Amino acid sequence: MAEVSDSDKALNRALWAVVNERFTDAAAADMWSRPETVWGLFSVPERELGVLGEVRGLDVAELACGTAYFSAWLARAGARTVAVDLSHEQLTTARRMQAQVGPAFPLVQGDGERVPLRSGAYDLVVSEHGAAAWCDPERWLPEAARLLRPGGRLVFLTNSLLSALCVPLEEGVAGERLLRGQREAYRVRWPGGGAEFHPSHGDWVRLLRGSGFVVAALREVYAPAQAHDHTFYEIVSKDWATRWPAEEVWVAVRR
Ligand SMILES: C[S@@+](CC[C@H](N)C(=O)[O-])C[C@H]1O[C@@H](n2cnc3c(N)ncnc32)[C@H](O)[C@@H]1O
Repeated sequence: MAEVSDSDKALNRALWAVVNERFTDAAAADMWSRPETVWGLFSVPERELGVLGEVRGLDVAELACGTAYFSAWLARAGARTVAVDLSHEQLTTARRMQAQVGPAFPLVQGDGERVPLRSGAYDLVVSEHGAAAWCDPERWLPEAARLLRPGGRLVFLTNSLLSALCVPLEEGVAGERLLRGQREAYRVRWPGGGAEFHPSHGDWVRLLRGSGFVVAALREVYAPAQAHDHTFYEIVSKDWATRWPAEEVWVAVRR
């Protein structure tokens, strides 16, 4: 299986420094200021998906947190969160948001494939458009398992396999044609972009089970009818995403 090479990791780190420049403080503040936890490109509320359960009092680690808005929402809901990302630039924005919007919680610069956090210290590991796409599943899933207490949960959102098959390599949004074979999507290197992983559902089940998890749920995430096209991550249109799930959430329990 392909792993994220050091050069791909450098590529991804450089990509997120550039993305961070485009993802302004105003955009980050908008996410940090949301009144409730939502998932994905089309902001599907957690109260509708119901994949997290009660988080009050839980120790939570977020992997590949970006600007860490997801951790901010969980911290507001009463969780003790720590957020990890490879990108110094993304974490700098997160730190500014902690000062401007709050709340504050630990931010750690680190690799999702070698997480600099204690083993067996967390009840919940989350990642929203984070580790699942950007880290080798053969490396980050065992890391998530290592962090969790037995019975702890891993909940992550990533692009749906279908969208990974339909998004063009160059510019543009997903259309109605399959543009690559399913096995090619396992690891895609985007021209001008980074290197991403999009395992098939069969691969996810095998990888999760092999890393010490029991699969509890796979939720396919559609855009709500009243949603708008995402203004920043333009890979699928709202219209496409109301017909096909653009994203998926996996819930797995640490054995
Ligand atoms: C889509 S963003 C973050 C997710 C966040 N929820 C968001 O949508 O802004 C993806 C993040 O993955 C981070 N990332 C990429 N490779 C990583 C790795 N190997 N370890 C940790 N973080 C990584 C990038 O720095 C970037 O901040």
